[in-house]
Amino acid sequence: MKITMIGSGYVGLVSGVCFAEFGHDVICMDKDEAKIAALKNGQIPIFEPGLAEMVAANVKGGRLSFTTDIKDAVAQSDVVFIGVGTPSRRGDGHADLSYVYAAAKDIAEALEGFTVVVTKSTVPVGTGDEVERIIREANPNADVAVVSNPEFLREGAAIDDFMRPDRVVIGIEDERARQVMSEVYRPLSLNAAPLMFTKRRTSELIKYAANAFLAMKITFINEIADLSEAVGANVQEVARGIGLDNRIGTKFLNAGPGYGGSCFPKDTLALVKTAQDFESPVRLIETTVAINDDRKRAMARKVIKALGGEARGKTVAVLGLTFKPETDDMRDSPAITIVQALQDAGAIVRAFDPEGMDNAKKIMPDITYCDDAYDAATGADVAVIVTEWNEFRALNLSRFKTLLTQPLLVDLRNIYRKDEVSRHGFTYYCIGRPNEEVKA
Ligand SMILES: NC(=O)c1ccc[n+]([C@@H]2O[C@H](COP(=O)([O-])OP(=O)(O)OC[C@H]3O[C@@H](n4cnc5c(N)ncnc54)[C@H](O)[C@@H]3O)[C@@H](O)[C@H]2O)c1
Repeated sequence: MKITMIGSGYVGLVSGVCFAEFGHDVICMDKDEAKIAALKNGQIPIFEPGLAEMVAANVKGGRLSFTTDIKDAVAQSDVVFIGVGTPSRRGDGHADLSYVYAAAKDIAEALEGFTVVVTKSTVPVGTGDEVERIIREANPNADVAVVSNPEFLREGAAIDDFMRPDRVVIGIEDERARQVMSEVYRPLSLNAAPLMFTKRRTSELIKYAANAFLAMKITFINEIADLSEAVGANVQEVARGIGLDNRIGTKFLNAGPGYGGSCFPKDTLALVKTAQDFESPVRLIETTVAINDDRKRAMARKVIKALGGEARGKTVAVLGLTFKPETDDMRDSPAITIVQALQDAGAIVRAFDPEGMDNAKKIMPDITYCDDAYDAATGADVAVIVTEWNEFRALNLSRFKTLLTQPLLVDLRNIYRKDEVSRHGFTYYCIGRPNEEVKA
């Protein structure tokens, strides 16, 4: 199959290279000339484990190439995926579909022969209908089937998720697309990954419902963590105790500073807006969004409380800035709100993140970026673990302690054991765990 991927970001690039790995001929297209120039030079614009090696191997194998020329790429393709961004629209929280619609229009003008156009971006229900309308209006002679195929990969484990998905959801309105999409994903169905065919609107809603459910699960355990703190229970044991029930499951039950990242915040908000427009409000998700928003600033208050209630003039060492480990993605990271709230309270922030600092500098230019966790701790009055990068799990606590002005650690990811840090003389605050020691 000849495939074009419009948009070569986290989703477009990973999906594109994985399709090439399946044996398809793939062109990754992007309108960002610098990005395509870098890719042509063998430089990967994002941090994603295993991606650079896989891109290099498939370029060498002649199955993967890069271009800014949409016309030429689309004209020769059997399948064209749209993997452009769908950020929150400024002002009202709806998904901004301008990139998707611009791509649809560009595709329409370049189509030759029967082509399946697939929306892989996360888009609200009805977007597939609109993409089809745009294509037919721009090119009435186009022979096209418009499909929804939402992506479920997680940054940090993106290649593995793509190659070993729990399921592939494909929404079609034109039966001709079924065979083409089966062929695109044939290597996965040989590995017994279920391909679920459904209608286009159902497929679009599945993606939002999945993300909203996961965001709700995180928010649920975060509230139970606060309650655990109040009543003297241990949230990690509560999570295990409920998670061992198969109907609940153990995943996504780690209490923390609130969900962030490039998907959950914007997708929960977009679902709320879609549901309101259809006069079928999703109150659970509205509440999830509100609780999560409050939580991030509450984490800064927790730090200020640990400092004795006053942050003005104090220095805070922030360990981890990305919304989760193994990515350089800073979009909607809780760290942004936490740092802002600390600065609002008069604190000075020193920070270190293993991969996210280049992106963080664009959003938070006014903090001191450090070489490592020890550098960040130097002269700070408190250290705060915001992202659970592996290198923060095994700090040399004796050395770390000597660098801080006082041995104070706030662990928003519960990666340390209380007895361990207390043994080193730290005053330790975490999420939803009582003072007595936690069993691993
Ligand atoms: N990042 C994730 O973990 C993830 C997971 C599942 C789904 N998604 C969804 O996938 C979509 C893409 O997300 P992402 O994180 O890859 O975004 P991204 O911002 O990393 O990449 C989007 C790319 O599209 C390019 N682009 C925009 N308009 C274009 C156009 N008209 N023609 C060509 N290129 C264009 C941009 O230059 C950019 O490189 C979003 O809808 C997102 O919700 C993301």
